[in-house]
Amino acid sequence: MTATPADNLEIIGEEETDRQHKELLEKYDEFMRAVDTNIHRRDLLKMLDYLDSYTKTHFATEEKILKDYSYPDFSSHAEEHRQFLGELWLVKSKLQTEGAMDEALRLTIHTLVRWLSQHIGATDKVAGDFIRKGRERSQ
Ligand SMILES: [Fe+2]
Ligand SMILES: [Fe+2]
Repeated sequence: MTATPADNLEIIGEEETDRQHKELLEKYDEFMRAVDTNIHRRDLLKMLDYLDSYTKTHFATEEKILKDYSYPDFSSHAEEHRQFLGELWLVKSKLQTEGAMDEALRLTIHTLVRWLSQHIGATDKVAGDFIRKGRERSQ
């Protein structure tokens, strides 16, 4: 299980983004469980394709909100997103070129999923608190 519970997620306090967080945590959790079984590489790559595109959509949605509210830590937040996508790309290319899942790759994936969960629970949470305050001020 990931560290951040997928239920009752109110991180950003905006419906679409928080729905995406729930979907991300559930799907990455599913992926991590699949990695621990003997699932075919083709199916893992299919899951990764979905995760890659959904994660990009989420990061774009979230970054737009952060920009709209002139979030002061936008650059470092967006940099974390970029780094995550870079790591995800590495996992995907390793799986494509090396074929079988090995222990090192399994560990990398577990670390990545944990990282995302922590990002949502901490970095996104801080951004969400800022946005909530901004919204209250403008009401
Ligand atoms: Fe997020
Ligand atoms: Fe984020």
